[in-house]
Amino acid sequence: MDIRQLINEKLAFLREKGVSSSRLELKILLAFVLKKTTDELYLYKLPLSDAQIKEFDRLVALRAEHYPVDKIVGRKGFYKYEFEVSKDVLSPRADTEIMVEKAINMIRENNFNSILEFGVGSGCIILSLLADTKNTIGVGIDISSKALQIAGNNARLLDVKERINLLQASWFDDNILEKIGQDFDIIISNPPYIPSGEINTLELEVKNFDPLTALDGGKDGLRDYRRICLLANKILKKGGILLFEVGEGEAERVKEIGEVNGLSYQETLRDLNDIKRCIIFKK
Ligand SMILES: C[S@@+](CC[C@H](N)C(=O)[O-])C[C@H]1O[C@@H](n2cnc3c(N)ncnc32)[C@H](O)[C@@H]1O
Repeated sequence: MDIRQLINEKLAFLREKGVSSSRLELKILLAFVLKKTTDELYLYKLPLSDAQIKEFDRLVALRAEHYPVDKIVGRKGFYKYEFEVSKDVLSPRADTEIMVEKAINMIRENNFNSILEFGVGSGCIILSLLADTKNTIGVGIDISSKALQIAGNNARLLDVKERINLLQASWFDDNILEKIGQDFDIIISNPPYIPSGEINTLELEVKNFDPLTALDGGKDGLRDYRRICLLANKILKKGGILLFEVGEGEAERVKEIGEVNGLSYQETLRDLNDIKRCIIFKK
C-alpha cells in the first residue's frame, strides 16, 4: 500500500465514523508521525514501521473522536507563522487573519508603537502584530494562566518575547485599569462571542476542544464587547484605534456598543466567506 492509498483508507474510515475530515488533515497527521513536512510525505520510503503504523492509527482514532488535528499535533499555522496550541487555547481561525493584516497596515501607516490585546489565547494575534512591525511593544491580557503559558512559548518561537508583557487578569476586575497602567495606540480583541444558549449547537471539534471561556459571550454574546469598549475609551490614546472580531450577525450591534461608549465607528471588514467579521473604531 502506498501513502496515497493509506490516506484514502483512513479518510474512508473517518467518514464512516461521521467525522468530516480531509486528505490534508490526514497528511498533517501522517507527516507528524514520520517527522516530515506534508510536502515531503510522498517521497517517504515505505513500508512504515510497526511503531509508525501504530502511532498513525492512534492519531486517526483521536480524530475519529472529533479531536481537532491542530490540537493532536500541537501546532497551527496562522497568518505567516506557526503557533503552539493545546486544549487550553482557542484554535487560531483563518477568519481572524483579515483583522491581523489590517492592524499591521494601520500600525505601519500611523507609526503606532503600543499595542494591547484583550484575550490573547495562543497569542496568534498580538504576536503576529509584534513580529511584523518594528519598534512595537505589547501587553496581552488573559484570564487563563494556562493560555498565557502557551502565549509565552509562542512569543519565544516568534522571537518577540522581549517586546510583550503577558498579564493574567480579567477585564471585569475592578482594578483592571491600574493593572494595565498605561495608554495605547491600538487595542485589538477577539473576545468570546457565542451566546451562552448556542454553545451546545457548535460542532464537537469546537464545543469539546476549545475552552468554554474562549467561546461563551454571555446571554446575547455581546457581554465582553460592552466591557472592552468601556475600558478602551479610557485607555486608547486620542486618534488610537480599536479593532474587534465579531460573530456572524453581531456587526451592527457591536457598532452601536462602540458608539454608545464614545468611540467613532470607522469601518467593517468582511472575511473570506463574505461575513462581516471585523469592526474598527477610532478614539
Ligand atoms: C475567542 S478567544 C481569542 C483567543 C485569541 N486571541 C485568538 O483570536 O485566537 C478569547 C480569549 O479571551 C479570554 N477571556 C475570556 N474572558 C476573559 C476575561 N473576562 N478577562 C480576560 N480574558 C478573558 C479567554 O481565556 C480566551 O483566551
